[in-house]
Order: sequence, then C-alpha cells, then structure tokens
Amino acid sequence: MSQPNFHSLILFQFFLLLLPFHQNVAYGAGGKWDLLVPSIGISSMHMQLLNNDKVVMYDRTDFGISNISLPGTKCRIDPIFGPAGDCSAHSVEYDVARNTVRPLMVLTNVWCSSGSIMSDGSLVQTGGTAEGDRVVRLYKPCNNGACDWSEISEALLLSRWYATNHILPDGKQIIVGGRGQFNYEFYPKDSSTDKIYRLPFLEQTNDANIENNLYPFVFVNTDGNLFIFANNRAILLNYKTDVVVKNYPQIPGGDPRSYPSTGSAVLLPLKMLANGQVVAVEVLICGGAPKGSYVNSLNNRFIGALATCARININDLNPQWGMETMPFARVMGDMVILPNGDVLIINGGSAGAAGWELGRDPVLSPVIYKADSPVGARFEVQNANKIPRMYHSTAGLLRDGRILVGGSNPHDKYRFTGVLYPTELSLEAFSPSYLEAGFANLRPKILSPVSQIRIKYGQKITIKFTVSGKINPNLVKLTLVAPPFNTHSFSMGQRLLVLSNENVIPSRGSTYTTKVRIPVSKILAQPRYYLLFVVHQEIPSEGIWVKL
Ligand SMILES: *[C@@H]1O[C@H](CO)[C@@H](O)[C@H](O)[C@H]1NC(C)=O
Repeated sequence: MSQPNFHSLILFQFFLLLLPFHQNVAYGAGGKWDLLVPSIGISSMHMQLLNNDKVVMYDRTDFGISNISLPGTKCRIDPIFGPAGDCSAHSVEYDVARNTVRPLMVLTNVWCSSGSIMSDGSLVQTGGTAEGDRVVRLYKPCNNGACDWSEISEALLLSRWYATNHILPDGKQIIVGGRGQFNYEFYPKDSSTDKIYRLPFLEQTNDANIENNLYPFVFVNTDGNLFIFANNRAILLNYKTDVVVKNYPQIPGGDPRSYPSTGSAVLLPLKMLANGQVVAVEVLICGGAPKGSYVNSLNNRFIGALATCARININDLNPQWGMETMPFARVMGDMVILPNGDVLIINGGSAGAAGWELGRDPVLSPVIYKADSPVGARFEVQNANKIPRMYHSTAGLLRDGRILVGGSNPHDKYRFTGVLYPTELSLEAFSPSYLEAGFANLRPKILSPVSQIRIKYGQKITIKFTVSGKINPNLVKLTLVAPPFNTHSFSMGQRLLVLSNENVIPSRGSTYTTKVRIPVSKILAQPRYYLLFVVHQEIPSEGIWVKL
C-alpha cells in the first residue's frame, strides 16, 4: 500500500472547497491488481458470492481432469472417464477471508448454466448440458466446510443451456430461454407455475445458425414487469400473463449484443426518493460484436468488437437509446456495479466473438463508467492486469469493495500450453482506487447495525458509522447491493439501490448517524440478502449483510 501523499491530500481538500457539489473528485483512474490464488484447480466460468463471504464457482464436468481433487476417495461416475470415474472437482468454494479453496462435487454437467440466490441465501443453479440440462442444484451456505451441492433431477420442464435467471418479488426464480428454447419457466414449481410460457420474442431475435439471443439480459422493472433484451432489442414482459406490454427500438446500428456476440448489461443504480419513488430506471448495454463477426471468426477473420454503449430510460413514454463510445472496444466484457454506484467494465477481448478459439486481443484495462457525469466525461480507464480474461471468465464484487476476477478458457478442454490464452485457473482481485490508503480518512466504517441483520420492508433503520477525517454530510449515501450470479459476461440479478437517507447527524467524536427507509416493495428489492454500504464522497465502507 502506498502511503497517503500529504501534498495530494492538501490539494484534494483544496479542490473540495472549490467544488463542494462535485462528486467525482474523491477517486478516479488507477486501481490495482493482486494475484490471490495462482490455481484454484478449476477455471471460474460461473461465480456467485454467498452471504457468508464465500464464493461458489464451477466450470463443467466434461473438460477432463481438473487441477483439484475431490475430497477423500470421492469420484464421479461419468462414462467419458471410464470405470475409474472422475475424481477431480469441477466446482470450488473460495473463502474470501482465508484466501483458501475447498473442492465441491457437482454430479451432472453444469456447463453454461444459470442461477440465482434465493430468499434464504442458498444458491439455486439451473440446467447445463447433456445429462445436466434439466437438473436443479442447490447450495446452502455453511461455515463448517461441510456443505456441498445437492441435485434434483428433472426439476426443469425443458432443457436450459445458456438461459438467464432472475429472482422475482415472490421469491421464485424465472428462467428465461436457453439454446433452442423460446419460452420461460419458474422454479420452484407449484400448481400455478408448473408449465411452460411461450416467448416468441426469443424466436424473433434468434439469428439463424448464430443465435445472438442467448443469455438474454433480464431485469425486474419498477412496474413489476420484466425487461428482457436479446440480440439488438428489448421487450417489457408481464411474465404472469405472458403478455408483451412494450417493445423497445433496436439499438442504433442493429449490431448484436447477446451471446455469442457477447456484450454486457446492467440496470443502472435505482435512486430512491424520500417518497419511495425511484428517479429513473435505466439500462446500460456495452460492447458486443458487429454483425457477421461470429461467422468471420469461425473463418479466422477476427473483426474489431463494438466500442459503443447504449443507454435507455425504460419507463419513458417514447424510450430511445442514447449512444456513447467506450475508450476501448470490448466483447465478452463484464459489468460490475461498484458499491458507490459506478459501473466497472472489465475482462474480455477487442476482436472476435464468444466461442471456442474465437476471441482475440485481450482488453487488459478495466474502465469505470460514471452514470451521473456529463456525456463525454463518464469513462475512466483503470490500470491494466497481465492475465487475459477471455471467453468463460468471471467477475464479481466482494463485501470489502474489491472485485474478484477468475476464469478464462476459450478451449474445449483444460489447455495449459501451446495455445493462445491458456486455460486460467488463477483468481485475482481488482481494487478500485477508492480502496487506497490515501482515502482512509474519508472512508466510512459501519458500527451498527451488525452484519447478518434481518430488515423488514418499509422499516426505518438507523445507521451508525465513523469517518475519521472531515466529513461532508451532503456527500453521504447508502447503497444496497444484490450480489449477482455471473457467467458469460452477464451478472444475473445484479441490482443496486441508492436509499434515501435523512440528514447525517454528528454523534460523538468521529461517529455519525443517519436514518434510511428500506423500500416498501418487493418489486423494487426482491426478498434476499443484500450488502449495505455507506458511501462518503464516493468512497465506500465495507459492506454489511442484511436480509430483506
Ligand atoms: C495445478 O496445481 C498445482 C498445485 O496447486 C500448481 O502447482 C500448478 O501450477 C497448477 N497448474 C496450473 C496449470 O495452474
């Protein structure tokens, strides 16, 4: 850690005086990379943070023997491995605090599947391929190292490979699409939802032989409908009645943004007003591959990726995409919402498409997007890493504000030598510059409530925190973050709410209190675990876990 630079702090405070309402002076370009684990034994293709600060990751069961053994004498029976079976693990649990990895056992093929955290904090993963394509798998967090996957066969009505999941206000998950599936279903099932719902939109957005409609970008709108984006356009769906209530225009240019022309997307932070309303509901989609890029890649012609982001206010009467240009073109990037509401665009390449051996020219520098800055001043290039994170890489926010980065395997097996972009088993962390020691005096620390607290809809809670340096009470905000399920450049269920807080009141010494109203609506915040952060001048505290 570099020591805080006295002169830059003075300068910094001087600028604060000049620009009391400017929010972007506190931190900016920079950030640093740390290699956490050289080999976790598998390539992190799917990633989910749990509410005990452990991260579940998995790749696929038919890659061959991984680099980590199953515990004890466990082996998985699988015809492709012969009579001895496969005694290597294809899923692991990473303990953030200890920086250790524990092998887990998936029984059936989880390759290119989807999932979501459920209300009780367990991870419910759905589908995959081959014998695993209708399986649902449960992972209940534990602190004694004894938990593992349990599998329910034929739990889905149809095969779900490359589908997207989202937790709903009633606590169920919706599972949208998948290869060859122009429909959706729910999990868990009950008598009213034990059926298939047709979704012709996914057929209309399916490019012959290329698809470009897989892993659709799905978000819950504040009106309770689902925003679903596939290929180059979106709909608003009443999923209960199976009625499309709104059609959005194509993104200008019409280039595809969904798998395998993989871009990424986020629901921008939902800012709550004191009356419980939300300022605006905006979706931001960045990168992807131009039309024809996928087929060209198959023929060894690697076309430059898209450099544009498209942003839309989905509840406008006449919604239109606003276009912006990123500092780098990017395909297979990930978009991670940071605790302060900024969007980190990370991982991926600058040419080609998703698929075996189809991506080129890694983009090693992440970029931060500041949604509230003026157009033209929103992107900030961050420091580069050294490890390419191409097809099948992942990224996700941790409670301490770092971003966990893993995976990358554009090969049909584990391939460590003699190939472009060898299979990556390493885990890294990207620390945005808000974590620098120089900002310690601005960084809030939450004293109460304590982590793991249960909160109720509509409840008013008091937050007590410290800031050791000079506080600007007008630049304190509280954010609630839903840690998503990340795979194939999309973070399913990712959501950040900026809560409406009352005045910050000095308590004693460097301690302050403020009150926030938790949303009344499960549509706004689905019932599940969230990370709560106090953010001061864009510098976030460590989060605490709250269960809503
Ligand atoms: C596999 O694991 C071993 C032991 O942890 C490690 O030394 C080796 O580098 C790993 N292989 C790869 C390709 O990461």
